[in-house]
Amino acid sequence: MELYTRLPAGDEPDVVARAAPRPGASILELGCGVGRVTHPLVERGFVVTAVDESPEMLERVRGARTVLSSIEDLALGERFDVVLLASFLVNTGDLGVRAALLATCLRHVAADGVVLVQREGEGFYDVIPREQVMRDGVGRMAITSSEEIEPGLRANQVDYVFPDAHWTQFFRTRHLPDAAFEHALAEAGLELDAYLTPDHVWARALPS
Ligand SMILES: C[S@@+](CC[C@H](N)C(=O)[O-])C[C@H]1O[C@@H](n2cnc3c(N)ncnc32)[C@H](O)[C@@H]1O
Repeated sequence: MELYTRLPAGDEPDVVARAAPRPGASILELGCGVGRVTHPLVERGFVVTAVDESPEMLERVRGARTVLSSIEDLALGERFDVVLLASFLVNTGDLGVRAALLATCLRHVAADGVVLVQREGEGFYDVIPREQVMRDGVGRMAITSSEEIEPGLRANQVDYVFPDAHWTQFFRTRHLPDAAFEHALAEAGLELDAYLTPDHVWARALPS
């Protein structure tokens, strides 16, 4: 929890704001954490519904309606201008979970709305360790190891280093090249509209 409260917002709020269909759009943010991206979106005038399965995370979210739920089981019976599936959740190692995450996106996006997905780009794990200084200049994040444990599935370690603290996380990801990503979207009833960043990390999809 403390780690997440320390992480500064990166370029995510700007990417979302540029890709939203209109100012003040309704946004369904899936896996919002402590509101690192939620809060800048609220400040920009978007109406955010923030979903997370962790009550401790949700307690930190301000200015947005919060919903305690797994993403897979979410069924609000509402449609949103923007459904946001960020934090590389689409790269989950579990194919069933991936299908369920994308199904939730389709279930909640308005007919003229957009689904915004943040995914691992090509070559994400080509150079390890890969280190990144955070936008606030205080912390560093590094992918310190990454091993392909079966074709397409990786076991990774990420370290967050601050002057007074250090966190290590282990996570698995499934590589999704552009064609496989677009196929996964199609299977979920979505179609790629555009890649929003040159590295193809951010994508906008529409209901097909
Ligand atoms: C890495 S954190 C990122 C949080 C936030 N998106 C950000 O960028 O700061 C991922 C968050 O998604 C939540 N999460 C992951 N998988 C989930 C799922 N299947 N259903 C609901 N929440 C999930 C976790 O509880 C966690 O708060």
